[in-house]
Parts: sequence; structure tokens; C-alpha cells
Amino acid sequence: MSFEQEVRRRRTFAIISHPDAGKTTITEKILYLGRVIREAGEVHGKAGKKAVTSDWMTMERERGVSITSSVMQFDYNGFRVNLLDTPGHKDFGEDTYRTLIAADSAAMLIDAGKGVEERTRKLFEVCHLRQIPIYTFANKMDREGREPLELIDDVENTLGLSCYPVTWPIGMGDRFRGLYHRLDKKLYLYTRGEEAAQIIGVDGIRDPKIAEHVQPELREKFIEDLELLDGALPEWNQSEFLKGKITPMTFGSAKYNWGVDLFLNLYSKYSPEPMPRQSNAGEVSPLNKSFSGFVFKIQANMDRRHRDRVAFVRICSGRFERGMKVWHERLQRELRLAYANTFMARDRETVDEAYAGDIVGIIDTGNFQIGDTITDGKRLVFDEMPRFSPECFGRLSIKDPLKRKQMQKAVGQLAEEGTVQIFVDPRVGEQDPVLGVVGELQFDVLLYRLNDEYNLDVKLERLPLGVARWPRHKETGRRPQAINGGSIVYQDAKGKPVILLQKEWDLNWLIKENPDLEFGFTGA
Ligand code: G4P
Repeated sequence: MSFEQEVRRRRTFAIISHPDAGKTTITEKILYLGRVIREAGEVHGKAGKKAVTSDWMTMERERGVSITSSVMQFDYNGFRVNLLDTPGHKDFGEDTYRTLIAADSAAMLIDAGKGVEERTRKLFEVCHLRQIPIYTFANKMDREGREPLELIDDVENTLGLSCYPVTWPIGMGDRFRGLYHRLDKKLYLYTRGEEAAQIIGVDGIRDPKIAEHVQPELREKFIEDLELLDGALPEWNQSEFLKGKITPMTFGSAKYNWGVDLFLNLYSKYSPEPMPRQSNAGEVSPLNKSFSGFVFKIQANMDRRHRDRVAFVRICSGRFERGMKVWHERLQRELRLAYANTFMARDRETVDEAYAGDIVGIIDTGNFQIGDTITDGKRLVFDEMPRFSPECFGRLSIKDPLKRKQMQKAVGQLAEEGTVQIFVDPRVGEQDPVLGVVGELQFDVLLYRLNDEYNLDVKLERLPLGVARWPRHKETGRRPQAINGGSIVYQDAKGKPVILLQKEWDLNWLIKENPDLEFGFTGA
């Protein structure tokens, strides 16, 4: 296969969802369809699930296979798919958002009984910021949930994203009969306990063949829904999809493996090739043969016996080879990447080569920080990795006042690595900043590392804050140093003004008081 063919068959995506929507379940089914795991048995309901920190670790443990979190690679319909893990539950953190920066598209999984939930909305905002294409999978159709039309309304109203239903459910809950594929004009009929669908080609929604398989009232409802849809919804528009403005929507049940293959087929048909990335030297095409990439995540090992860290690099152009020398722009020096792993099936596997679109994990002894650019010699830096609104805030204090300076230095270093964010309160000054993290686990990691690596005995006092917003003028993009409404303007690590609030709801007041400003969810 030529270099160009290799790059063009890469597909890199992440799943965004709220906890319990079924991400672990659908991931398992996708890996099964991608032949990464041999049998898609039940993962859930076993002891220990709530105690572990990573969803994928649960899978590793319970299935007895080692599926290293962060990225899974498999082949499907001739494509080389990279599925990035977006940590959820207890390990939700800024890494979850950063992962989306490395993806070229996202699959939004929603629980059909609940619609668009909080976490999904936030993750969506990151995708929206990057204008990446989004697929929607409405899960748990085997349960009574919201009417599909209601779900579409919800997605459109909550996220401002137009829906294009590709499949349509016939019934739901116990009366769920199957899916109608609007593009292929096929019925997929399911029976509880059986994964394989009975597939029937039909000639449109009024084909009498449908009546042979579907009860009259379900059929009537289905025709009524689809006629309404056909009249009300726009036609499929590929370019709007690629800009993330219209989402193809499919329905199904991850638990029973209904419709997951239809989702994957749709994904492989429409998903984008690796996209160009912006840098200070202009746009970098994935087809450019000279190697480049950036670090989007660093996984520090919490186990003292294994102090190595893994720096995850998204390859943006060219070809990666094991043992290659790269130019590290921030350090202004060359490095040899002796150990690089990709995270394939059952274990970390050493990669010999990888292409634009792929993710490689590089064993790191401290050379890398989040956002670092590496190339095969070309001098360029990819656009800065944005900071995202933290949800937990606190201040540190230290028992031994003589170690205060040391603590400040350590926190500064860990902030640079992306473990926490620092906000300077103008009334207090730099010596005692407010710390913010996206997920609780980040605070745990911070305290652990301060203690373990820096030998500092610190205490964290939590603050009643929950949101950060980066204001800027709507027209000029200028960052204001003061705003109306009496809020204190903090400064982030880059000196950008930030507003810290208790609840997102408090934002309404600020928006009213400052009509010429917008309040960004990220510091980008
Ligand atoms: P998450 O990773 O998004 O947090 O969700 P996860 O897959 O762990 O699923 C959360 C719960 O939802 C699990 O139930 C799972 O079985 C269930 N679930 C996932 N997909 C479907 C679906 O399509 N239909 C139905 N009815 N349930 C689904 P649990 O109670 O935690 O475990 P279990 O005892 O049911 O296995």
C-alpha cells in the first residue's frame, strides 16, 4: 500500500457520552465487530466495578484481557480505525477533553430515555469548537424511552445540532421490533436474545412487505413519524456534516448489539480522513511526507515500581518509524524515540511504523509536556492546546511554612504538565493561587504527586466554585481586564482573564450585564 493510501484509510474518533449511557457496553461491541475481542459477553454487574477508576480497566480486569486504555486500533471495512478512550466516571478529567483534540470525529452516545445529558453537552462543546463531524447513536431502545422525535428535538434545541436520522426505530422497549434504514431501504428485525438481524429489502416505508413483519399499530406510527420527518428535516448534506453542523443519527441497543454494526458501517462510509492541523508554519497536511505530531496526553504511572510515563502523540503528517530521531521544538533538541507503543488488541505492542491519523504512546522519562510538537526536523509548533473549564476548585496550604516556596514551584511544574490549572486572584497575588481541575481524580493525582515526588505535606481546602469562563469581546476578540457586574477577574497561567463562578447558571447574569462579551468554555 502506498503512503497516501495508508494515510487515507486512517479513521480516528472518540465516543462522547454521559456516565451510564452505555459507552463501555458499545465500546465492547465495537471491538467485537472490529475483531479485537473474540466474544462480546456481559462486562457489567460484577463485583468491583464501582471501585476501579477506568472504564477500560474494568474491561481488562473482568474479561481477563489487557486492553490498555487510551487508544484501540482495529481494521473495519478496509479502514484502520483508532478509537480513543474518553475517560468517564471517576477518571473524568481534562484529559477527556484533550483527547477530543486528537480525534477527527466523534460519536455521541445518548441514553434514549434521558436525552442529552450534562456531560455530553460539555464534551459536545469541545467538538463544536473544533467543528468536527459528530455521529449520534440513541442507545437503550430495548427499554421504554423518549419518543424518537422528541430526542431529535432535544439534540437540536440543547446543542443546536441538526439531526439526520439514518435509521428509525420501529417500536421501543418490549415492543421494539427493529430498525428501518432510510438510506439502504432495508428493515432490520431483531429478536431478543439474538444478535443477528433478519434483513428485508423494501421499497419505501409503505411497502406492504413491512406489514408482514410489523404489527399494524407500530407500522402506522412508524409511517406517521417518517412522513413527518421527510417533510420537516433537511436532506443529507455532506459538507454540513463535515463541519459538525448536521449529525447522522442511528438508533439501537448496545446491550443486545442491535444497530451497532449499522452505526459502524455508517461511520466507515462517511467519516473523514485525517484532517489537516494548524501550526505556526501554516496548515499541515496529513499527506505531507515529513513526520510531525503533538502530545495530547501524558499518563503518569502511579505505581512507584514503574515510574515510566507514556506520552500520547497524535501523528499529524508523515510516517513514524520506531527508533526514529525527532526534533523536539520546545527543548530545541533531537530525541531518539526508542520505545513507542501502539495499543492494539491484547497488549501494548511495539509499533514499527504508524501514519498520520494514528496515535502512538511513547515511553517518556520526562521530556514531554502536553502540547509539545515533534517533527522530523521541520521547525513548527502546532496550535496551542486549549485549557478547559474546571469544575472543582481549591487552595493548598502546607504545614511547614518553610516549604511554602517549594510547594509553589512544584505546583507550577505540575500545572505546566497539565495536572491542574492555576488562577491568580488579583487581591491575593501569585503566591496563593486558586487551583482548578476538571475531575476529582486530578486533585487526587496532584496531592499524591506533591507528597510522593516532592515530599510535601499539603492540605487542600475546597472552594465553592464550579465554573471558569474566559471572556472576550465578541467583535474584536480582545480580552477585557474588567467586566460589569462586580465579578473578580482572575488570570490564568498564560495571563488571560478568567471569571470563576459557583454555577453555570450564574453566567446568565454576567451575559446580561456584558452584552458585548462572550464567555468561552475554553481559554483557546
Ligand atoms: P458507561 O460506560 O457509559 O458508563 O455505561 P455502561 O456501558 O457501563 O452501561 C451503564 C448501564 O447501562 C449498564 O447497566 C449497562 O448494562 C446498561 N446498558 C448499556 N447499554 C444498554 C442498552 O442498550 N440497553 C439497556 N437496557 N441497558 C444498557 P448496569 O446496571 O450498570 O449493569 P448490568 O447489570 O445491567 O450489566
